[in-house]
Amino acid sequence: MARTTIDIEEAASVLRAGGVVGMPTETVYGLAGRIDSPEAIRRIFQIKRRPFFDPLIVHVADAAQGQRVAAAWPEAAGRLAERFWPGPVSLVLPKADHVDAMITAGLPTLAVRMPRHQAAIELICRAGAPLAAPSANKFGRTSPTSAAHVVSEFTDSDLLVVDGGECEVGLESSVLAVDEDEAGAAVRILRPGMVSGSDVSAALSGLEVRIERGRSRASPGHMESHYRPPIPLALVSGAEWTESAVARAVKERLGPEWPQSDSPRVGWMIIPPDPIDAARTLYAQMRSISVSGVDVIAAQLPEDAAGEAWEAIADRLRRAASVRLDAD
Ligand code: TXA
Ligand code: MG
Repeated sequence: MARTTIDIEEAASVLRAGGVVGMPTETVYGLAGRIDSPEAIRRIFQIKRRPFFDPLIVHVADAAQGQRVAAAWPEAAGRLAERFWPGPVSLVLPKADHVDAMITAGLPTLAVRMPRHQAAIELICRAGAPLAAPSANKFGRTSPTSAAHVVSEFTDSDLLVVDGGECEVGLESSVLAVDEDEAGAAVRILRPGMVSGSDVSAALSGLEVRIERGRSRASPGHMESHYRPPIPLALVSGAEWTESAVARAVKERLGPEWPQSDSPRVGWMIIPPDPIDAARTLYAQMRSISVSGVDVIAAQLPEDAAGEAWEAIADRLRRAASVRLDAD
C-alpha cells in the first residue's frame, strides 16, 4: 500500500538507496528516482507501466545543475531558464553523455526543468542528484495533483509519497525544444502548458530565434489519447446540452456495451471562467467525478474560452475525451 509523508528526509533516504518516491511539484506530482540509479529508473517505468519509448523529464535544483545534464546550453536556453525557472517549463536540449539512455528513451536529447515547489527542491538537494520523474499516474491516465491522488494510483505498491499539498498550476509543464544549427536557433513548442507561446516570444525578445508552435505531435509519448479518466469523458460544445441528450449521444457513439446502464448518469465538470483556476482544478475534478458513481463525465469549455490562455486546457480535455459532441 502506498503512503504519504511530510518528512522529506525519509523520502530522500529512499532515493539515496536507489528507490523511487512520489514528489510534489507545482504542475503535477511526479514519480522520482535519481538519474544515476539505473535500478530506480527501471522501477519508474515498471510501476507506471510506461513503455520504454517514452522519455522522462529530469528535475534539477538550479540552472547550473541543469547545464550539467545538457551537452549544449544555447543562449535561448539561458534566457528561458532565467525567465521561467523555477517554473512549469521543460527545455529539451542535447543530452550530456553521462545521462542514462533509458531516461531519454535512446534519444540524443533530454528534457530538463527546475520545479517551483520547495519540497521538490529540497528533495533533489538531499537526494544528492537530479531526479528523473514522469507524472505519477499509470500510463495514459490522468495526472495527479495531490498526494492522495498518487496513493490511489499505486495502491498495489509500497510507494512513499511526499505530501506537498495541492499543485499550484495543475497541468503538466510546457515542453520546449531548443535547437541550434547553421540555420540559427529555434524553439519548438512540443507540449503546450500554462506558459504560452507569447510568454516564450517575450522572453526571447531581442534574440534571433524562430518560434515554431503547434508541433505537439513531435513530442514522443505525447499521444492523441492520453490523460484518460477511468470512465468515458464527453467533451461537448455548441448549444446547451441536457443531461439526457449527452447520455443518449454517448451511448450511441460508444456502442451498446459502454456505458452499461440504459440511462447513463452524467457528472458535469465545472470549468471556472479564469484559465488559471480552470487548469488548477481540471484533473482533480476528473478524478472526483470518476468515483462519484456516475457513468459519464461531461465537460464544456466556457463560451469565451478561446486563445492561448486556454490552449493547454483545451489540449488536455481533447486528449482525455472518449467522445466529442458538437451541436448541429
Ligand atoms: O510538469 C511536468 O512536466 C510533470 C512534472 C512531474 O514535472 N512531468 C510530466 O512528465 O508531465 P511526463 O513523463 O508525464 O511527460 C513528459 C513528456 C514526455 O511524454 C515527452 O512528450 C516529453 O515530456 N519529453 C521528454 N523527453 C523528451 C525529449 N528528449 N524530446 C522530446 N520530448 C520529450
Ligand atoms: Mg504524464
